[in-house]
Amino acid sequence: MELRDSFGRKIDYIRLSVTDRCNLRCIYCNPGNASRCSLNPGKMPKFEKITRFLRVARKYGLKKVRLTGGEPLLRKDIVHLVREIKAIGIEDLSLTTNGLLLPFFATELKMAGLDRVNISLDSLNPDRYGSITGGGRLGDALRAIREAEKVFWPAPVKINMVPIKGVNGDEIRGFAQMTLENLFHVRFIELMPVGGSAFEEMRITSGEAKDAISSMGGLLPLGRSGSSDNYALPGAKGVIGFISPMSGHLCDSCNRLRITPAGKIRPCLFSDHEQDLNTASTEDEMERLLLISVLSKEKGSLLKRAVQFDTMQQVGG
Ligand code: 5AD
Ligand code: SF4
Repeated sequence: MELRDSFGRKIDYIRLSVTDRCNLRCIYCNPGNASRCSLNPGKMPKFEKITRFLRVARKYGLKKVRLTGGEPLLRKDIVHLVREIKAIGIEDLSLTTNGLLLPFFATELKMAGLDRVNISLDSLNPDRYGSITGGGRLGDALRAIREAEKVFWPAPVKINMVPIKGVNGDEIRGFAQMTLENLFHVRFIELMPVGGSAFEEMRITSGEAKDAISSMGGLLPLGRSGSSDNYALPGAKGVIGFISPMSGHLCDSCNRLRITPAGKIRPCLFSDHEQDLNTASTEDEMERLLLISVLSKEKGSLLKRAVQFDTMQQVGG
């Protein structure tokens, strides 16, 4: 069985945000003026309920699960959750992290069945890294990347970089350069409006990022994987990806649902149609919520018209 939404898109991917807490405060994620409460009321359902829901979704062809936050490694029981989810038969189980706690958990997570990780890294300059993340230490993030490289090999470590004018825009080439000698998959993500700030003038589009890199040698197109348009520099070991939620047509190929830390199933990051997993206790009820969520998926472009009401932490980046 498979799930198709009203626009024919196949839904086989769930992003599960396991906490809205984070040990960093990235400028684009949790802007100082954003409300930290009330918009996402309720609490995370028991992991057992979540794994049951995922098992129902598995019957409908769920292939891919990503754990996000906030910072998912702040959940003490994350290794247990990984083990339970992998046991359902999820082919591709990944986790997005800022990396600070990763060296402590990487091996355990791998043994529990985690296939790979994405690590957020927005600057290679220690002071700048500190100010973008609200006090993070660059050395910790770099250590996490090295550790992930070893532990999750041969899966490449994905590095998420959000280029911002006047902040880290001048580092695009430096990040691209990392792919020459490393198996990394560096992904440039367009700045999205969250927490009510528009950020319009600060956004660097994928087109602009690509232009900045092109002068380093022609970018060889590798095609698309998920939401990323991939390229490689000539002779490079790694891959460069561009994720274009703002300038591109990301929604046309959307294959995902989200679960917020409060246990709400959302058809889109920016949708206000949500189903409360806490209200379901039987598998039939869960199946019903799953189908309603898929069928209530909007065509897209919510992001472009949205005046934001959430922080990224609350819905899971
Ligand atoms: N715009 C683009 N990307 C964002 N992320 C968080 N907030 C934003 C935003 N406003 C990204 C981070 C992280 C991932 C979870 O989401 O770079 O890697
Ligand atoms: Fe935390 Fe990630 Fe948000 Fe930064 S982007 S504050 S690391 S959840």
